[in-house]
Amino acid sequence: MAKTRKIMIFDTTLRDGEQSPGCSMNLAEKLEVARMLQAMKVDVIEAGFAIASPGDFEAVQAVAGEITDCTVASLSRCLEKDIEASGAAIKPARRPRIHVFCATSEIHRKHKLRRARKEIVKLSVDGVKMAKEFVDDVEFSPEDASRTEWDFLVEVVTAVIEAGATTVNIPDTVGYAMPAEFGDLIRHLRANVPNMDQAVISVHCHNDLGMAVANSLAAVRAGAGQVECTVNGIGERAGNASMEEIVMAIHTRGDFLNVTTGIETRKIYPASRLVSSVTGLNVQRNKAVVGENAFAHEAGVHQHGMMAHRETYEIMRPEDIGVPSSKLVLGKHSGRHAFKQRTESLGYMLKGEQIDAAFEKFKRLADKKKEVFDRDIEALIDEQIEQVVEVWTLRGVQTTAGSNTVPTATVTLARADELMTDAAIGDGPVDAVYEAIQRISGTRMRLLDYSLRAITSGKDAQGEVTIEVEYDGRRFRTRGVSTDIVEASARAFVAAVNRAVTLDLANGQKPAQP
Ligand code: KIV
Ligand code: ZN
Repeated sequence: MAKTRKIMIFDTTLRDGEQSPGCSMNLAEKLEVARMLQAMKVDVIEAGFAIASPGDFEAVQAVAGEITDCTVASLSRCLEKDIEASGAAIKPARRPRIHVFCATSEIHRKHKLRRARKEIVKLSVDGVKMAKEFVDDVEFSPEDASRTEWDFLVEVVTAVIEAGATTVNIPDTVGYAMPAEFGDLIRHLRANVPNMDQAVISVHCHNDLGMAVANSLAAVRAGAGQVECTVNGIGERAGNASMEEIVMAIHTRGDFLNVTTGIETRKIYPASRLVSSVTGLNVQRNKAVVGENAFAHEAGVHQHGMMAHRETYEIMRPEDIGVPSSKLVLGKHSGRHAFKQRTESLGYMLKGEQIDAAFEKFKRLADKKKEVFDRDIEALIDEQIEQVVEVWTLRGVQTTAGSNTVPTATVTLARADELMTDAAIGDGPVDAVYEAIQRISGTRMRLLDYSLRAITSGKDAQGEVTIEVEYDGRRFRTRGVSTDIVEASARAFVAAVNRAVTLDLANGQKPAQP
């Protein structure tokens, strides 16, 4: 029997994932995600596109300076200034990689780059050689490879390996490929690129036709040694191949695929929650592996089967991906130590002051709510992690609403030790609360999206409000949690104001004044 191959997991949540609309993360959030990826034992973390902005550069540099157990990569076009920026940003990394790319398909050559085949080969080779001056570990991607003529792809791949590329990544940039076809492409490269044995073949699939994971696995069967993916499948347009699906497919069907990964699968669920929390993008309920319904059994016949023998309807064990059981965990008499242990078993790695703040919130919640579940604790911590610079905190909110009444809200916010109260009217109580918060903070934002969901069941369930706002041309999502939905709405908006203040500070602007 053939030996089981280990597939390298290259995570690009912080690059391809972060660059998709509404998914931007600040430096602290990127570091939090990078730490989680390291705890999951991913092989490579693509930390950003160093040339894209000073914020991207800083993030790549910070991840490179802190992460010791994974390779840290930065993306570059085949341009000197890009490669220099990547080289400088990843310098502190213990295992640095530069990832250069150049589009190769006819449509990109003609309409985007306006270059002939020969020029594309030269650009790619020069890019790899330039990157080699900074690091030994160089990855090359022929962008839009799946729509590139196969003979030309063979020519480019052969040339970049000769120039020193140690990994060649084959992207299905626009999610166009079909699994059998994509597998054949990988086989074709293995059979026709004369120096293919000198580089690892990687794949990078987008999900436009919902086939990113299927295409990646077809490529693995055909001999690919690295898969690029993102947590929760976030990424450009319909997203990238989702890491949890790739890893659990390999974990569950290693017998068929004859491959394995080094991923700590118990961190999958906490990582999914963390990424959802910092981006504000909720995971769809029926999402494979990490969706809320992934391990729920509703039909009577299924429940009966599950009770008789779990494997009748479950091909993965929830505990293997770190899904917390929704049992009663702690009450108002529980101490800080028990709370800390519980957060650790949920996969969070909080520092002293973060634990203190989360514990205080937990105590307040336990006073209000009879039963505190794991999911309640997760929501508290997610809200906590999301707080950026906590300039404003919510101290009180009161509303009057109903038929034949003008909705009115009175809000009190604190800034350092100063308390400020204002009142406003609106189209509804939440609108009035948002108007009052904007009057107090002096920060004007446009609300683009508002959604509310119950985290657990029961009358005293916590409500989680997620909002998307636009501020100064940037969009971001924040969330707020409370047993009172108006308060949860206010918390989400105060978090957005704090994010706007952080953005102003990062841009060297004086934050808005009341
Ligand atoms: O989708 C793509 O082609 C990419 C490359 C830069 C690897 O993200
Ligand atoms: Zn991509």
